[in-house]
Amino acid sequence: MATQKTSAADFLPDRINLKSLREAAAQCRGCELYRHATQTVFGAGPRRAGLLMVGEMPGDQEDLQGKPFVGPAGRLLDEAITAAGLDRDDVYLTNAVKHFRWEPRGKRRLHKTPSARQVEACKPWLQAEMLVVKPPIVVCLGATAAKALMGKDFRITQQRGELLVSSWADWTIATHHPSAVLRAPEHQERERLRGELVDDLHLAAQQLFRVTGRPAGEHGSARERRSARHRAGGGSG
Ligand code: URA
Ligand code: SF4
Repeated sequence: MATQKTSAADFLPDRINLKSLREAAAQCRGCELYRHATQTVFGAGPRRAGLLMVGEMPGDQEDLQGKPFVGPAGRLLDEAITAAGLDRDDVYLTNAVKHFRWEPRGKRRLHKTPSARQVEACKPWLQAEMLVVKPPIVVCLGATAAKALMGKDFRITQQRGELLVSSWADWTIATHHPSAVLRAPEHQERERLRGELVDDLHLAAQQLFRVTGRPAGEHGSARERRSARHRAGGGSG
């Protein structure tokens, strides 16, 4: 592995929690990507989420809004999460790289895949997020995340949808990136990829239930919390 002059490791806070990490990451200059991005897009979700999902890097909308998965890929991911019987509010969502890498194409900013060096430079943030959240199940969305976590020889085409052992969590599952679903040119191919994404998230949900005996979330799932609030608000149930 090429030696790195700087990386996110130089910017880690002394005390590690989600707030201190988010604040420190906002100042990160561990690689050159901060220069042309609007802001750091740190992970988001409950501190002890049962599921942690890793995407590639923020896109155009995420860069502008400062939150992960709020653009078109995020909408597709939301639908897949719901179809798999999960609740987005129970999932900690983050990315392998925390700044948007892009190149100009007319007036648009076109996504550019982060280099292996940039992924490596950014990894200390992901490692720190894992230390805090300690998710039993990690889902890698797409090749960049899967290679970052499972090694550069990992192939989504060969190993997606399998429960894998890794040093990151009890179980790691790799699946398609929602952007890959959106990019598929043919309707049939798009539906196949979408179906596999939902199946893989469903497997993650089932495994989480097996491991924890709970659907998701630290203090019950978001759905349970909402219905508890609803009952407390004067329902008859
Ligand atoms: N694609 C990603 O990988 N992450 C996001 O947050 C948005 C799009
Ligand atoms: Fe730091 Fe990661 Fe942004 Fe590079 S991409 S500046 S390592 S937060």
